[in-house]
Amino acid sequence: MVDYPHRIQRVIALPGSLRRASYNRTLLQAASRIAPAGIHIEVYGALADVPLFDEELEAATSGGPQPVRHLRAAVAGADGLLIATPEYNQSLPGVLKNAIDWLSRPAPEEVLVAKPVAITGVSSGRSGTRLAQSALRQTLTATEALVMPAPMLFVGEATRLFDAEGELHDPATRESLRVLLHAFGLWMERVLPARPSLPEVV
Ligand SMILES: Cc1cc2nc3c(=O)[nH]c(=O)nc-3n(C[C@H](O)[C@H](O)[C@H](O)COP(=O)(O)O)c2cc1C
Repeated sequence: MVDYPHRIQRVIALPGSLRRASYNRTLLQAASRIAPAGIHIEVYGALADVPLFDEELEAATSGGPQPVRHLRAAVAGADGLLIATPEYNQSLPGVLKNAIDWLSRPAPEEVLVAKPVAITGVSSGRSGTRLAQSALRQTLTATEALVMPAPMLFVGEATRLFDAEGELHDPATRESLRVLLHAFGLWMERVLPARPSLPEVV
């Protein structure tokens, strides 16, 4: 068992696709099942409710309407953010960029600044979201999130890797996912401020 000495690490996982049968959501669900002990992953399920970003809507609702506040609270309450992005036209999908634009706003609180983030992605193409992840990394850099530099995980040719029930069955991809999650646990340990340990009970 890997030891993450500071605490159980809560991770919110954001799939960049609204599709019910999304490979990216399935990848994150697999991640939640194979995560090392000490890391708890919850897959965010309400991205479809987040409206298109509009500064007037933001101003009229003091920082965003309820679905935006819900997303912000989920990210704020997590030690880390794990994103799985599809690739659309050699970049990240609009729904994911839109969510990050909302999250990047400073009011009512900055939720991405200094937040540890790991990224991955699945596509049906052979390049496995290389360009989408590159664009996502650039966007996250602008938000001052702390994006884990390595390892990178590009999952291509999705139809070969998932079975009829949508479960990730490819052993090599499952192992790469395990390695990514282990590295993310260490990354969070490294970049999160240390929490004071509880006083000893005598
Ligand atoms: C509008 C659109 C553009 C796409 N462009 C690319 C692309 O540039 N590169 C690629 O590998 N796949 C591309 N795809 C395929 C998606 O990556 C693939 O459908 C993927 O499974 C979507 O993720 P999801 O299963 O999580 O919904 C595109 C799909 C759509 C709908």
